[in-house]
Amino acid sequence: MEKYLQVKENIIVTIDGPAGAGKSTIAKIVAEKLGLTYIDTGAMYRAVTYKTIKNGVDFSNTVGIIELALKSEMRFEKEKLILDGEDVSDKIRSRNVTNRTSIIAAIPEVRKCLRDMQRNFSKKQGVVMEGRDIGTVVFPGAPFKFYLDASVGERARRRYAELREKGTDVEMDEIASDIRKRDALDQNRGLCPLKIPEGACVIDSTKKTIKEVAEIIVKSIKVKK
Ligand code: DC
Repeated sequence: MEKYLQVKENIIVTIDGPAGAGKSTIAKIVAEKLGLTYIDTGAMYRAVTYKTIKNGVDFSNTVGIIELALKSEMRFEKEKLILDGEDVSDKIRSRNVTNRTSIIAAIPEVRKCLRDMQRNFSKKQGVVMEGRDIGTVVFPGAPFKFYLDASVGERARRRYAELREKGTDVEMDEIASDIRKRDALDQNRGLCPLKIPEGACVIDSTKKTIKEVAEIIVKSIKVKK
């Protein structure tokens, strides 16, 4: 760890994978263990969606949405996302925002705008960045790339437990169906589709605990260093 800490600056760890594969929880643990900054890029797409709804901009108004994205100031404070000075961390998790984010994520100019922000974050600090296109498009040359996967059933079960814990009233079937729809949208979109990055270490977390997966990642980073 000592040796690692000396070289942590500007280290980039990418974690991609489908919704509910455990990316966020695992990325947070890895970041904490290695003293790096955790960046949740899905939250950034959600934030633009939230802003679109808040400003009453129609989802067919691509030009208006791009303008909102370009005028956005985002920063992460620990695990909170601050958008234009407002803590939006909880607001961006609503089902309404969740289901409309794929519209926003399919706009090339929005992706470019957020990609530039993501690359800028990494200039200031070492990062563990998770999303769908981090190892393929944002940092294709990153030294530490991971792809997390899990079965749809297991991912739905995890999401269900997470939402129930927060007091959200949901049905398991609804969640599984939302996950299947989001997988199809993420994997089949023409622009930056979700796929395994070249050279990434693929981990199936269906039968592994969060802790086990985090350990595999941390160990493999330390071995490579
Ligand atoms: O990981 P998440 O569920 O918070 O992601 C929200 C949405 O943003 C999801 O529809 C996929 C999209 N996304 C993306 O297109 N590219 C990323 N790097 C991260 C998320």
